[in-house]
Amino acid sequence: MIFSGKVVCITGAARGIGFALAKAFVSQGAEVILTDIDEKSGIKSATTLDATFEKLDVREHSSAQRAISRIVRKFGRIDVWINNAGIANHKLVIDLGPEEWKESIDVMLSGAFFCANQIGPVMIEQESGCLINIGSVNGLLAQKGRAPYCSAKAGLIMLTKVLASEWGQYGVRVNAVAPGIVKTDLAIDAINSGIVNEQDYLGRVPMGRWGELSEVVDSVLFLANEEESSFVNGEVLRVDGGWAAYHLFHPFEDAFNA
Ligand SMILES: NC(=O)c1ccc[n+]([C@@H]2O[C@H](COP(=O)([O-])OP(=O)(O)OC[C@H]3O[C@@H](n4cnc5c(N)ncnc54)[C@H](O)[C@@H]3O)[C@@H](O)[C@H]2O)c1
Repeated sequence: MIFSGKVVCITGAARGIGFALAKAFVSQGAEVILTDIDEKSGIKSATTLDATFEKLDVREHSSAQRAISRIVRKFGRIDVWINNAGIANHKLVIDLGPEEWKESIDVMLSGAFFCANQIGPVMIEQESGCLINIGSVNGLLAQKGRAPYCSAKAGLIMLTKVLASEWGQYGVRVNAVAPGIVKTDLAIDAINSGIVNEQDYLGRVPMGRWGELSEVVDSVLFLANEEESSFVNGEVLRVDGGWAAYHLFHPFEDAFNA
């Protein structure tokens, strides 16, 4: 029960990594608030955990403002905030419309800023708190057909470092986790649509397998735990089976290499 009495909020928590995080924090005694744009699934997921749901569309600054002030009014504080909401988009730049570009940047970069902009004053006033951004190896390494995703995640990693620099003096830590491939609906949709080939993907990972949800969760729990990571600030923790460490000598096959 390491997080007993702590208030933990997660964006995009209706399913996938966000839901796995919510479940883990609940099991560690935290008061967990699941937030998501998808109200129906979010309420269902929160109910199974006996946790709270708050609707939050991270693309809208006003939505972040509303949700965060409701959470603070109800729980009095926010100890851990996890920017996890994400979407996938697979198109070459020349085929990409401006709206598709904007959507990814809005969800995964501006959304993280909007939330940080609202929780910053809360955590600074508390003189404690921890913000964790869920990045990706795609924020570190380029991949064809993923310009908005890679750009948003690269921006998110830099936002992590800037926030860590701004808030460290107040005892507020900001870190990121950069997962490799984890078999959630987001990844399964990409495989089912033929955009990525599962065997090619696994061939790109030195450990030759998918990451487990629990492996991403454990890294987030570590970063959120004041006892274990009290001096870790501005870090980007890769949880990728060695993906970003490994430079392939032959071309990685994907839908855009035909
Ligand atoms: N699955 C992977 O292999 C993988 C790898 C690296 C990074 N990630 C990152 O992990 C995070 C979670 O991914 P996942 O695989 O669990 O995806 P997922 O699609 O299973 O879940 C994403 C959640 O975000 C929510 N969401 C989408 N738009 C939103 C918005 N505007 N406001 C609020 N919520 C919104 C969705 O409703 C959904 O519940 C994402 O940021 C993703 O980029 C995933």
